[in-house]
Amino acid sequence: MKAVVTGAKGMLGQDLCPVFEDAGIFVNSFGSKELDVTNYDETRQIIGEISPQIIVNLAAYTNVDKAEEDYDNALRVNYEGAKNLAKVSKETGAILIHASTDYVFDGTKNSPYAPSDKTNPINKYGLSKLKGEEAIIENTDKFYIVRTSWLYGGLNGFSGNHFVKTMLNLKDKDEIKVVNDQTGSPTYTVDLALGMLMLLSKPFGIYHITGEGETTWYNFAKEIFDIEKLNVNLKPCTTKDFSRPARRPAYSVLENSIQTRHWKDALKEYLDYTRSLNKGNEEL
Ligand SMILES: NC(=O)c1ccc[n+]([C@@H]2O[C@H](COP(=O)([O-])OP(=O)(O)OC[C@H]3O[C@@H](n4cnc5c(N)ncnc54)[C@H](OP(=O)(O)O)[C@@H]3O)[C@@H](O)[C@H]2O)c1
Repeated sequence: MKAVVTGAKGMLGQDLCPVFEDAGIFVNSFGSKELDVTNYDETRQIIGEISPQIIVNLAAYTNVDKAEEDYDNALRVNYEGAKNLAKVSKETGAILIHASTDYVFDGTKNSPYAPSDKTNPINKYGLSKLKGEEAIIENTDKFYIVRTSWLYGGLNGFSGNHFVKTMLNLKDKDEIKVVNDQTGSPTYTVDLALGMLMLLSKPFGIYHITGEGETTWYNFAKEIFDIEKLNVNLKPCTTKDFSRPARRPAYSVLENSIQTRHWKDALKEYLDYTRSLNKGNEEL
C-alpha cells in the first residue's frame, strides 16, 4: 500500500511517517517546498504520478495568533489546500486522512465534545480549519477527518516548538506563569499517528483522537516538571492575565473515538525518550 503525506516536515509529519512505514505502508513524504497543497495542478500531478491508496494531509497554517491578521493565508492553506486534496482524492480514488482541531468548537460545553457536536470556532484559525473540513466533506467521499488537540512530539528532527519544549526552555526563569482556566487533552503525535492507522478499519467520517484524560495548561506544565524532577517556581494564572491576539476555547476536551493511553503515560514516555536522546548526544 502507498501513501502520500503532505506537510510531512511538520511536528506530526515527522512522527507519522515512520509509524505508517512500520505498519508496512510505503510512504512518499513531501514538505511544503516539494508539494504546495495550495497549488492544485502541482498537487494533482505529483499525487497522480504516485497513485497512492492513502493521502494524509498534515499541511496546515498552524500559527493560531498570526491567523487573526493573516486570515487570507490561513484560508489558502487550511481551506483551499484541503479542498485541493479532497478533489485529488475523489479523482484518484485515494482515501484522504486529514488532521483537524479542537478549535472548531467554542469551548462552552463542560463535557467532552462528540464528533457530531455543533461547531462554532471563536478564532480565525479554527474557522479556517472548519472550512477545510467542510471542503473535504463536499468534495470527496472517502475521508477521515481527525480532530485532535494540544499536540507535542516530533522525535525525528522537528525543529520547531511545542508546549513541552517551551516549558523546558523556561525552566531556569525565576517564575513561570501558566494559564489554569483552559482545559483540554495533551496528545503525543506518535499516539495520534497510531490512532490514525487504526481508523483505516472504520467507516469514513469525522473522528476525535487525543490523549486520554483532561487537564489545564498549568497542570500539564506541572506534570512536565514533576516527571523531569525540576524544581521550578510555577504559578497558575488566568486567560485574562495573558492577553493574546486569538481567543482560545475554555474547554476543548474531545470525546475519543478510539482507545488511547492516558496523557500522563504518553508524556512520560516522550520525556524519557527525549532525555535518553539528549544523553546519547552528550556522550558522543
Ligand atoms: N500543534 C497542535 O497543537 C495541533 C492541535 C490540533 C490540531 N493540529 C493540526 O494537526 C496538523 C499538524 O500540525 P503540526 O503541529 O504538525 O503543524 P506544523 O508543525 O506547523 O506542520 C505543518 C506543516 O505544514 C506545512 N505547510 C504549510 N503550508 C503548506 C503548503 N501550502 N503546502 C504544503 N505544506 C504546507 C508546513 O511547512 P512550512 O513550515 O515549510 O510552512 C509545516 O511543515 C495540522 O492540521 C494542525 O492544524 C495541531
